Amino acid sequence: MGEIDVPNDAHIRSTVGPTQPPRGPQIHIMVDGAAHAAWAGEPLVDVINRAQIELAQVCYHPQLGPIQTCDTCSVEIDGKIGRACGTKVAVGMTVRTQTVAARAAQRDAYDRIVANHDLYCTVCDNNNGNCTVHNTLGTLGIQHQTRPFQPKGYDKDMSNPFYRYDPDQCILCGRCVEACQNVQVNETLTINWEAEQPRVLWDGGKPIGESSCVSCGHCITVCPCNALQEKSMLGQAGLFTGIPLPVWDAAIDVVKGVEASAGLKPIMNVSEIESAARDRYIKKTKTVCTYCGVGCSFDVWTDERHILKVEPGQGHANGISTCVKGKFGWDYVNAGDRLTTPLIREGDRFREASWDEALDLVAWRFAELKEKNGPDALAFVASSKASNEEAFLVQKFARQVIGTNNVDNCSRYCQSPASKGLSLTVGIGGDSGTIKDIENASMVITVGSNTTESHPVLATRVKRAQKLGHTKVIVFDIREHELAKRADQFHRPKPGTDFVWLGAVSKFILDNDLEDKAFLRDRVNGLDEFRESIKDFTLDYAEQETGLSAATLEALARQIAAEERVCILWAMGVTQQCGGTDTSAAISNLLLITGNFGKMGTGGYPLRGHNNVQGASDMGAMPDQVSGYQNVTDELVVQRHEREWGVRLRPERGLDNTQMIDAAIEGKLKAMWITGEEMSLTDANANHLQQGFEALEFLVVQDLYFTHTARFADVVFPAAASLEKEGTFTNTERRIQRLYEVMPPLKGTKPDWQIYMGVADRMGHRWGYTHPSEIMAEIARLSPFFAGVSYERLEGYKTLCWPVAEDGTDQPLLYTERFNFPDGKARLYAGTYHPRQHAPNDEFDLHLNSGRMLEHFHEGNMTFRVDGIAENAPDSFVELSLELAADRQIQSGQWVRLVSEYGAVKLQALVTGRVSGHEVFVPMNARKAEDAVNRLTGSGGDAITHTPAYKDTRVRMEVLHDVGPNPLPATNSRWGHPTPQMGVEVERKWARPDYVFPGGLLPMHGDSLNARVDGLGGADD
Ligand code: SF4
Ligand code: SF4
Ligand code: SF4
Ligand code: FES
Repeated sequence: MGEIDVPNDAHIRSTVGPTQPPRGPQIHIMVDGAAHAAWAGEPLVDVINRAQIELAQVCYHPQLGPIQTCDTCSVEIDGKIGRACGTKVAVGMTVRTQTVAARAAQRDAYDRIVANHDLYCTVCDNNNGNCTVHNTLGTLGIQHQTRPFQPKGYDKDMSNPFYRYDPDQCILCGRCVEACQNVQVNETLTINWEAEQPRVLWDGGKPIGESSCVSCGHCITVCPCNALQEKSMLGQAGLFTGIPLPVWDAAIDVVKGVEASAGLKPIMNVSEIESAARDRYIKKTKTVCTYCGVGCSFDVWTDERHILKVEPGQGHANGISTCVKGKFGWDYVNAGDRLTTPLIREGDRFREASWDEALDLVAWRFAELKEKNGPDALAFVASSKASNEEAFLVQKFARQVIGTNNVDNCSRYCQSPASKGLSLTVGIGGDSGTIKDIENASMVITVGSNTTESHPVLATRVKRAQKLGHTKVIVFDIREHELAKRADQFHRPKPGTDFVWLGAVSKFILDNDLEDKAFLRDRVNGLDEFRESIKDFTLDYAEQETGLSAATLEALARQIAAEERVCILWAMGVTQQCGGTDTSAAISNLLLITGNFGKMGTGGYPLRGHNNVQGASDMGAMPDQVSGYQNVTDELVVQRHEREWGVRLRPERGLDNTQMIDAAIEGKLKAMWITGEEMSLTDANANHLQQGFEALEFLVVQDLYFTHTARFADVVFPAAASLEKEGTFTNTERRIQRLYEVMPPLKGTKPDWQIYMGVADRMGHRWGYTHPSEIMAEIARLSPFFAGVSYERLEGYKTLCWPVAEDGTDQPLLYTERFNFPDGKARLYAGTYHPRQHAPNDEFDLHLNSGRMLEHFHEGNMTFRVDGIAENAPDSFVELSLELAADRQIQSGQWVRLVSEYGAVKLQALVTGRVSGHEVFVPMNARKAEDAVNRLTGSGGDAITHTPAYKDTRVRMEVLHDVGPNPLPATNSRWGHPTPQMGVEVERKWARPDYVFPGGLLPMHGDSLNARVDGLGGADD
């Protein structure tokens, strides 16, 4: 008996936020006659599980905490029967798990809940060895059900495109309700405990498809049986589950008949054989989500190329959580229009070509153009969807094979200003902590971030911490999105004025002695210059510029200064402005003066958009830095690369994405190679961009589909999807995670790294990698930040948050002791306010905002290929305020044309309270390229990073006569009506007249007990 063994799932427990009270002191308790270490106050069931004592526990899930609905975990605690999950450990506690009374209570509890469930395991799609209801039967050794299964009299609900609910299989454990209410915090699910026949309800009793359900999948993931099941599993998972319905029904009858005569054991034996047989064809492979920067990881269950389901549980960033895209957004991998052969342009047409021919052509043309125009006539764009190893190879190709620094990635369009702002102030351009820090903050401020839709799983942690009373949430945004509605405070500054309120709040804190003086004295430089830079940012000036009252700003300053642990999250509402870098630095400044860096629950968090946009920059797909943010001008770096690559790095900065297009139009850039980026729709000023592509002599595009960008190409390479390859992604937390090959590359496609190798090889550079792990080894050799990263250290669900020392020590929380500057001190940045350049005027009287939707990712190339998603969010639209709609007499569904200085698009109106006044909002996703919002945006942007100021756009609106249906169909979750409550509310179950706590019925000793136990059908104590 020694120190407490940390359970394997300790990290997972924390990923769902502060469910448990802080640990008490370490104590010892007696369980089944042996002493076990425990923390005072922790759930008793955790101690029992750590001691590996087998105990039934149907409703307990470590990531949900005790919900106490099933009573199967009943044990004898100091002589009385009680629930092990609902009992907190205390000094001197004596527990017996296997007494006759305890066993009887456990069995009685199970018998009661299983009366709600038809045990047809052999023909059940959930018979996969992990069904809690099935496995508990074995744990308790039950032979017969005393209470026969009784149908509840409700129909199956098939109305959601991705999953179904079968009330007759539902044991009313309430795990789903707890997950929906308190983890996902969508608050769709409840149980009507007072009803004669309770069931799970969506929005209080709506069909799922008409409810507020966002199809995140939490409820399905935690359901202990088949009551909630992915439709992709139905009839697909088992040997016998795909049989036609009448035969299937008959099979169940046979199974039940056997049970009546021979007991449950023979049936369970058969079902276990059937379950084991599934291992031969069901493959379970760990991967990392390919959509957003939260970095959810999960197992993907497949039968050949059919995706049976996505099963989260062990991911460090997400635990049991996913959003609709990670859980269900995978149809695109098997879409019928995947490219399966290279294409070569011939005039206005493309023809299919062999890999050899296409690779030869690209190598030959690159060599020819380099020879004729010099290496800087070529440029390369890495994909933020591809792996770290692949991003590394793109910049290696540019620098080693071609000899240019013309290489970039799409963080140029979103997060470069945030990285720069943080680099200037704290020294590392990444999130300063992890999601765990965010959920442990006492105050979370979001600025220009629609977190619920753009970073859904991360948002769940913020919402959960707020709902459980651990965190105050303050939202700054021009749009009243879901998190804004939930926030403790929602502030709507005028567009592009965040720098001003941040300056004013900082000034007020400093002027009123509210700053963290010790932190500033010991850890921060540049206070005087900073004070000077914000001297004009009085509360009155800020009120006038931002529209937020001086009183509001003063109160805010006082609150932030007084708060114990503050995290600030920001996104494209900040970075896609004229002064994105300055505003990002201003956020960091505010955190610095209040001492909010370097301790748990604090820090700055620029939320990364794409799954690997962090990694693409980390790996050196940037015009001035190689992997690990090492400058190409640093002689040591140059020498290290010369040793490894045999070439000297060029010391001058190359072209970034936006400069590449200008250079192409000017005739200086002749060729580009773009991997996995729909640049022609996602860059600002799409018409200008197309002009650039047309001016190129040679364009290579590598993607899954024939994208809009591919139309401009001379050669198109068909790439493999993330599920079809190995590699690593780095999420917004700087967390590096491995993905494994779920299925082989679709015939005719290749992983990106192999395509780069094919061209490099033909240009005289035999890289010779046989596996991405060898590329990672090279990255580690070349980059001090990744010195200790290896595939072995990332095995399975293991992760590392960079920087990683050679011995494998990583840094989830940065700056605990020093900031990343030579003297270890942070630097307050004296920034400049850059007012917007395109405020509405007489000709263009509306401000255009753009951003993501929950259902879609970015331009929608992948998500529009997922039927269920496309059904609920079929196309783009323009959100109009109630005032504007009334003023112009527009209704939802009406067609309008938006016209800017740069282009025009035709969209349907959606009248909504999310936007106000003359603000309009258009999602980034568009089915038709001609309607992409970036037809409207201009080229100007952040002076330091050249990130386009997408959000600084003005338009006018022409009202067209046509009126169609509402662009958001009635099945979209936005139309639902959530039913918030504090979890499953088990007290309402306990208050039912027919509820009996199993232990309460049973005497602790005596003859009557044995009769009772016999009646339960289990006699093997
Ligand atoms: S939102 Fe829908 S899918 Fe997500 S937990 Fe709630 S009911 Fe389940
Ligand atoms: S549907 Fe919900 S209440 Fe019913 S068994 Fe599944 S998790 Fe439990
Ligand atoms: S899109 Fe983001 S939040 Fe959703 S599952 Fe993927 S990584 Fe997680
Ligand atoms: S596991 Fe304890 S009541 Fe369900």
